[in-house]
Amino acid sequence: MDDDNSSRSVSPVQPVDRLGRPLRDLRISVMDRCNFRCPYCMPEATYHEAFRFLGPRERLDFDEIERVARMAAELGVTKIRLTGGEPLLRPGLPDLVSRLSALPGIEDVALTTNGVLLPRFAPALRRAGLRRVTVSLDSLDPAVFAYMSGGRGDLSTVMEGVNAACAAGFEGGVKINTVVQRGVNDAGVPDILARFRNTGVTVRLIEYMDVGNRNGWGRADVVPSRELRARIAALWPLEPLPPRYRGEVARRYRYVDGAGEIGFVSSVSEPFCGTCSRARLSSDGKLYACLFATTGTDLRGLLRQSACNADVDERLRTTLSRIWHHRTDRYSEERTHRPALWADGKKTFSQEKIEMHYIGG
Ligand code: GTP
Ligand code: 5AD
Ligand code: SF4
Ligand code: SF4
Repeated sequence: MDDDNSSRSVSPVQPVDRLGRPLRDLRISVMDRCNFRCPYCMPEATYHEAFRFLGPRERLDFDEIERVARMAAELGVTKIRLTGGEPLLRPGLPDLVSRLSALPGIEDVALTTNGVLLPRFAPALRRAGLRRVTVSLDSLDPAVFAYMSGGRGDLSTVMEGVNAACAAGFEGGVKINTVVQRGVNDAGVPDILARFRNTGVTVRLIEYMDVGNRNGWGRADVVPSRELRARIAALWPLEPLPPRYRGEVARRYRYVDGAGEIGFVSSVSEPFCGTCSRARLSSDGKLYACLFATTGTDLRGLLRQSACNADVDERLRTTLSRIWHHRTDRYSEERTHRPALWADGKKTFSQEKIEMHYIGG
């Protein structure tokens, strides 16, 4: 199931933000560390040996995460995605999956991973109730793959991970996320598509975004989805498919020859803020109303207050509702509608943003 949450009615206790958008999705980063160093996300120059990641006590524990998720579900969230960093580096992740899957109102728990640890964990995750897995995979060329994973990744292990996920039989299926960077991996996109045609695995091609402050993003590095789609359609004709649910991030297409479906995530050239129902929880318990937010709201302090459980829940409810009621974020649309700020050479117009490995994808 890719659920249709458009039909879900908004009850009075479920907040809607200033732009009329309900809260439906909670993306939880369970681990800020990663065993890769993709230059577009965690460039080695910054994330070296001496970089200070969060310590175990600084991260929310599973009770705390479950508590936030339970409250978010009361306020309208139906989908949870576990992210990182690399979420499978978090010890005991299947336990968290089973707790979240059991929460009233949660219909879908999914995971975004670099795939390396899937051969070990896929069966346990499936048994715990994980419905869907997305594996990040940027190239099938070993040299390009090595570059794009910062020299840390091993392509054959990632492919074993994809196979393990397929074999585990996740109810909602397996997807591949490919971040496309001009002149780096765009020429290899057809190889990835060819590999997954007729397999039931959906590849999503993601425009390289200006997330974080450290990847040196430039406009010229982006291959707009329209251009990429034309290149692909020249090889395998495509036709558009309707969204599966309101606010779907990827635009879906099917191969006319029946070999399956692909998606384009075009947050740079065709932003989708208008239907954005996503909130993000960082591994140290800050809640962000946008991927490009500059500040988050600390929930960890609130969770660790020595108040009785009912009081903490009530404060959590009030805090989450207030954040969502006041939300006006639409970063990607604003970036698009201010073309003067787009000139090549100008990296971005935002101040210090949150890093992707910390807030999750
Ligand atoms: P499905 O639930 O399978 O539809 O997944 P999804 O597309 O919601 O999640 P996924 O994490 O696979 O998203 C794919 C990519 O889209 C991410 O890695 C990000 O690069 C980008 N993305 C996801 N959500 C947002 C968002 O809210 N804003 C922006 N600008 N980009 C996003
Ligand atoms: N642009 C687009 N997507 C990104 N991701 C990480 N950094 C970026 C970026 N700069 C995505 C990766 C991965 C997920 C964790 O986040 O594709 O699937
Ligand atoms: Fe790790 Fe994913 Fe970031 Fe790469 S994109 S460094 S695999 S979190
Ligand atoms: Fe949502 Fe912010 Fe992404 Fe727009 S830029 S879709 S508001 S997370």
